[in-house]
Parts: sequence; structure tokens; C-alpha cells
Amino acid sequence: MGSNYDVKSYKIALLPGDGIGPELATEARKVLTAIQAQGKAQFDCTEALFGGDAYLQTGKAFPDETKKICDDADAILKGPIGLNKEDSEKIPVDERPERGALLPMRRRYDTFANYRPVFLPKSMAHFSPLRPEIVGEGIDLLMIRELVGGLYFGAKEQGKTDEGLRYVRETLEYDEAQIARILHIGFGEARKRKKVLHNVHKSNVLMSSVLWNEVLEEISPDYPDVQVEHVIVDAAATHLCLNPRQFDVMVMENMFGDILSDLGGGLLGSLGLMPSACVGPDKAYYEPSHGSAPDIAGQGIANPYSMIGSVAMMLETSFGMTTEARSIWSALEQVFADGYATVDLGANVDGVEILNTTDFGDKVVQHLT
Ligand code: NAD
Ligand code: IPM
Ligand code: MN
Repeated sequence: MGSNYDVKSYKIALLPGDGIGPELATEARKVLTAIQAQGKAQFDCTEALFGGDAYLQTGKAFPDETKKICDDADAILKGPIGLNKEDSEKIPVDERPERGALLPMRRRYDTFANYRPVFLPKSMAHFSPLRPEIVGEGIDLLMIRELVGGLYFGAKEQGKTDEGLRYVRETLEYDEAQIARILHIGFGEARKRKKVLHNVHKSNVLMSSVLWNEVLEEISPDYPDVQVEHVIVDAAATHLCLNPRQFDVMVMENMFGDILSDLGGGLLGSLGLMPSACVGPDKAYYEPSHGSAPDIAGQGIANPYSMIGSVAMMLETSFGMTTEARSIWSALEQVFADGYATVDLGANVDGVEILNTTDFGDKVVQHLT
């Protein structure tokens, strides 16, 4: 135990969210408690409503009280949000969890840099649906997704054409500063790793990608040690399936990143293995890349890896607790190495003992204590 003198205190806004979110949040709390017990840091977690459940209880998907708790926090840890299609359609469009809570959160804290690691160590390679010779020594790539621009945040309009047909228009907007700042993140991460940056674009069709690539050409002289490889987004999807190990750091605009990062979860064997960090200039929030999984909510079988991995990313990125973050990653890996898995991964794998959400979290904690 360190002396009280060395103990740093961090305020965490914990937003359990919808569906499997609360189940995952419970496991995240356990891990935070285990790290706290090591004596180096104290975590002061305040829970707040966010998403569909928040709307049903307060009439707002991102209530003012939650905004205040998030504003005051050193970091935000968030479970997935979202209702099933039927319940979602009962809520006014602008208060549905995605448009009413998640996008406003991203905008509020300008969390433009979304880190989505696609990581499968050799000891977990058998969970991938890819053939062993393709997975080889494992998969380890980092998708960097621009998170506050593009189609998600561009102007939208709908109405009737002169012929009386319903129409919709959504715009994919980026300015050069928005592009430059995410590319700098991509180059910086590539520099820390294998010094290769895959630039994902669609400049054969989209003007936004033409500007993106122009900005990249202007920036790349600042990183002479980083080799840039260009790949068109549709081809990138195929290359990821056929040979994911050719990639290390990939950078892309918002919508491309949404789609390719879920493909990343498919390469690993489950979205339950996809944590993420969403980082802005002054604040970051951490969340699984996946959704609220209404199909398995309430059954206690969700894989908490994505949420616990998000805790590790928070400790490293927001609190500089690199050693503790590493210990969480290795505890997670160790549970699989011991022959356990949650049902999303283990159902079709021989010799694996299936754990529920709570037991998986307990095993992680055992390796931390
Ligand atoms: P989803 O990501 O919730 O689920 C896709 C599939 O992956 C399901 O079969 C689900 O059971 C499985 N899965 C996801 N996470 C898992 C985990 N931790 N353990 C085991 N299995 C897991 O996608 P969906 O069903 O298309 O979306 C459901 C809702 O989530 C929608 O309302 C959507 O808008 C929302 N959503 C929210 C976020 C977020 O909060 N960041 C992200 C994606 C989707
Ligand atoms: C994600 C999700 C969100 C997105 C939705 C829920 C708005 O799919 O975080 O990947 O599309 O960004
Ligand atoms: Mn998504």
C-alpha cells in the first residue's frame, strides 16, 4: 500500500446505459474497486442516467443533471445505450438515445478521436472465425475513427420534391482543420507503433476524401519516419478479412470507422471484445464499441471484456496509470488462457468453460488481487 500522500483521487461519471449496459457497468466497478485496493488511486464514481432509460425516467435522453456530473468528472465511463426497434420508435426521434444522448455527448466534449483497438492475442486466436493460418500470431491493429464530423453531424433536410416525392438530404461535411487534427492523431499513433499508417478513403467518389488526402499530403512531411499506405474503404473491408495482419494503424472518417470497426469485432469473434476511447481536447469518455445488445439483455451472459477494456483505456489515457492498465489487459487475457470464455465467444469452441458476466468479472478481479 502506498501512503495516503501518494493516493490520487479521480472523479468518474459512470453512465450504465441501456440493455446490457448496467450488467457491464457492475463488472467495471468491480475492477475499479480492485485497482483502488492496490492503494495508488481512489475512484469516486457517480452514476447518472443516460440514453433510453434516462428518457423514460426523466423525459430527456441526456438529462441536465447528467451533463453536470459529466462536466465535473475527470473522465466518463459509459455503457452502451439504445433500445430495441419497437421501443425506440415510441420515443420522439430527437430524444432517441443515439440522437438525443450519444451524439450530443460527442459534440459537447468534442471527442473527435475515437480509438478502437482490434486486438486478439495468440492465446485467444481460436475465437476468431478466420482460419488459423490467417490469424497467425494474433491480430493487433488500431482503428482511429474521426468521431464528430461527416455525415453524422452534417446538415440534414427532408421534405417533398416538386413531384410530391418524400426526399431526404444528409451532408458529409469536413473542414481542413477537422481532418488535420485526426490525421495528426493517426500519424502520432503510427509513430509509437510500427510506423505504418493506413489511410482509408474513397477519393474515387467523394470530394470529402479528396480534401482528406490533400490534407494528408500536407501533413505527412511532419512525419518522415511514418510510411503512408492508401486504401479505398471498400477494398479495406476485404483486405481486413483476408489478411488483417497487414494493418497496424488505420485512420478514417466517421462513417467508415463505424462500419469497419464492427467488422473488426467480427474478425475477433465478438463485438464483446471491442472497447474504445473517445478523446477530445479537454475531456474523454470511454465505452464499448458495440451497442446495448437487446437480444441478450437481462440474461447475465454478456461479455464484459469491452467495458473492462474501456476501464483500462481510461486509466491509461485519462489518468496516466499505465501499469494498472496493463495489469487489467493481462488479467483479461489470463481468464481466457485459463480456459474460460463468455458464451458469445465460447459457444462453438471445444474445451472452453462458459462463464456468465458476473463470474467472468470475478475471475478478472482474482487476477488483479
Ligand atoms: P449491438 O452491438 O448491440 O449487438 C450486435 C450483436 O452483438 C448482438 O447479437 C449482440 O448480442 C452482440 N453483442 C454486442 N455486445 C456484446 C457483448 N458485450 N457480449 C456478447 N454479445 C454482444 O448492435 P445492435 O443490436 O444493432 O444495436 C442495439 C442498440 O445499440 C441500437 O439501439 C444501437 O443504436 C445501439 N448502439 C449503441 C452504441 C453505443 O452506445 N456506443 C453502439 C452501437 C449500437
Ligand atoms: C458506435 C455506434 C454509434 C455510431 C450509434 C449508436 C450512434 O454504432 O458507437 O459505433 O454510429 O457511432
Ligand atoms: Mn457502431
